[in-house]
Amino acid sequence: MTQPSRIHRFLLTAFVLLTFIQCKHEPVPGPEQPPQPDPDTIISTECDPDTVYFINDVLPVFLSSCAKSGCHDEATQADGVYLATYSAIISTGKIKPGNPDDSEVYEVITENDPDKIMPPPPNAPLTAAQIDLIRKWISQGALNNYCASTDCDSVNVTFSGTIWPMINASCKGCHNIAAPGGGVLLQNYTEVKNQAFPRIWSAINHLEGYSPMPKNSPKWSKCKIAQFKRWIDLGMPDN
Ligand code: HEC
Repeated sequence: MTQPSRIHRFLLTAFVLLTFIQCKHEPVPGPEQPPQPDPDTIISTECDPDTVYFINDVLPVFLSSCAKSGCHDEATQADGVYLATYSAIISTGKIKPGNPDDSEVYEVITENDPDKIMPPPPNAPLTAAQIDLIRKWISQGALNNYCASTDCDSVNVTFSGTIWPMINASCKGCHNIAAPGGGVLLQNYTEVKNQAFPRIWSAINHLEGYSPMPKNSPKWSKCKIAQFKRWIDLGMPDN
């Protein structure tokens, strides 16, 4: 065995040092980063109430209702359709930016024919609110956008205005009577309240001993987790 040359030793030392220094860096607190890092995502620091944002509003619906095992996740890709990322969703060609009525994705979620509707029975159809979000997102150009508002209202939290929209978008698709993931049902106030603590709380915080939720999706933002905590602290009101 030959001795490592000086340059080798220098490179090795530099490498070890660099690794060490990088590991010492704490993540910088600040505005939430997009949960799916994608260099093409349009990031705004304000959340415009009239804009539908793909990462915040639309992706959770695709992940919890379409990109599921046996359906349109990466492994299954039923009918060659994969729906877990922006580029995959757009490259299906089934979304025509600006034109929901010409978009096959919109057509199948609003279909009346039980043989054609998505998600197919016995899964529940998307709710009117979810369909509306997707329609608006396509009308607004089907952009790959995300808003990272620094102001998070984790004080004025209500079930109907804060908690239910989050559960409906990210959880209900896998926790309803047709698809009760882990036997957990999250279809209404009582079911959410019954599971809220410690189960949902532990699952959304990825605590040890619990399955991390939402399954196969990015962890909820700090804001959402703070709002859920606030609702628990308020005594889980049905308001
Ligand atoms: C893609 C489907 C899917 C989504 C989306 C999903 N879950 Fe689950 N969930 C499951 C499955 C399946 C299980 C059973 C355990 C497992 O397979 O990981 C489960 C288990 C759980 C459990 C029991 C965890 C435990 O270890 O006791 C809770 C609580 C839960 N989910 C809450 C949620 C909440 C809250 C959300 C939304 C933030 C959510 N889930 C989103 C599929 C999903």
